[in-house]
Amino acid sequence: MGQGLGPGRLGRVLISRGEVAARVGELGRAIRRDYTKRSPLLVGVLKGAIVFASDLFRAVSQPSGLDFMGVSSYGAGGHSSGIVRLTSDLSVSIEGRDVIIVEDIIDTGRTIAYLRRNLATRHPRSLALCVLLDKVARREVEVPVDYVGFAIPDEFVVGYGLDYNGFYRNLRDIAVLDPTAVS
Ligand code: IMP
Ligand code: MG
Repeated sequence: MGQGLGPGRLGRVLISRGEVAARVGELGRAIRRDYTKRSPLLVGVLKGAIVFASDLFRAVSQPSGLDFMGVSSYGAGGHSSGIVRLTSDLSVSIEGRDVIIVEDIIDTGRTIAYLRRNLATRHPRSLALCVLLDKVARREVEVPVDYVGFAIPDEFVVGYGLDYNGFYRNLRDIAVLDPTAVS
């Protein structure tokens, strides 16, 4: 493995699996309440949001759909390239649907700004955003967020779907990557 493509080293647990589960349950109930008698389509953003989206989908527990979209904005080592690229598209039309984008984390806001613009051109009935983690201090592009799990400090986090060079997505807790061990 080349330099900078290793797993780094795990630091402290920032949000435990229990805290995540409780908050995801709350978000699911909030969405269920806000979308009474509607059938929202949850659009998870690959790959980081796979774990969150599947837990949230079950927590919403009402007739609703789940689809995925792939975007890539980060190069090796978790540094943003600044350019957002669509790597895989939805499998269904969202015209007239109540769409909720489900994302793992907002950092600069570029990925979400791109996705919002892209999906808005397809004429959904409504378009909302649910994000598990919000690194508020890093925001460069303002985007409206409808549901937030946790506001977190400016540290690189992994676990619960979030990765570093492809590692740690299957970690059950959300942990900080030890910055002294990152090249
Ligand atoms: P943004 O476009 O700068 O808002 O970046 C958002 C994307 O960057 C997320 O979808 C993540 O894939 C990735 N990202 C940002 N911060 C982190 C982090 O702390 N850990 C893991 N991935 C991150
Ligand atoms: Mg992501």
